[in-house]
Amino acid sequence: MIKKFGSLLSADAANYGKIIKDLENKKFNGIHFDVMDGHFVRNFAFNATLITSLRKLTSMFFDTHLEVEDPEQYLDMFIDSGSNMITIHPQTCRNPESALRYLKAKKVQSSIALDPDIKIKQILQYLPLIDNIIVMCVYPGFGEQEFIESSFERIRKIKKIIIDGNFNISIAVDGSVNNKTEENIIDCGADILIYGSSIFKR
Ligand code: DX5
Ligand code: ZN
Repeated sequence: MIKKFGSLLSADAANYGKIIKDLENKKFNGIHFDVMDGHFVRNFAFNATLITSLRKLTSMFFDTHLEVEDPEQYLDMFIDSGSNMITIHPQTCRNPESALRYLKAKKVQSSIALDPDIKIKQILQYLPLIDNIIVMCVYPGFGEQEFIESSFERIRKIKKIIIDGNFNISIAVDGSVNNKTEENIIDCGADILIYGSSIFKR
């Protein structure tokens, strides 16, 4: 079963509570939070306080995507906020392996994000340590960007690596997921589709 997550980045911040309930009613499987620090990306979004407040409204799966420099120092606050899965970009970490092991030890799903300009071979060493990989189909930082066409092939390649290696890892796809790209993304082997601006009108 393909899962659908809603990414709140493009949603109306005055109505997050209502929007989460609405996504729950529409049978979305999770909420995706893009935490941005103004360093790794030129944008700011979300924090642990906000996620903690929203956690009280729903038991939906919370997928926290840390688009920040040095995420290791913030893992505890996002674990404590009630995140069910936490995604790091390995290039932002001092020691990605230990961060991923730490998440697992804390019973939170561990996940990495693969940016468009990172080679797949650069992340292979993390596969034994992760529950999920987010394939970024846009550069991290903003919603409403153009889909990068080469992403389809990258999803396919990662799917093959996961199957051949007999890993238990889901593939989530983030960035420009919409009614033009979703069919092809699923065909390439995605397990989770993260919808942002395509489901939120401002
Ligand atoms: C981008 C974020 C995405 C963003 C996607 O840095 O990681 O989650 O919300 O937005 P759309 O779907 O508009 O590309
Ligand atoms: Zn994201």
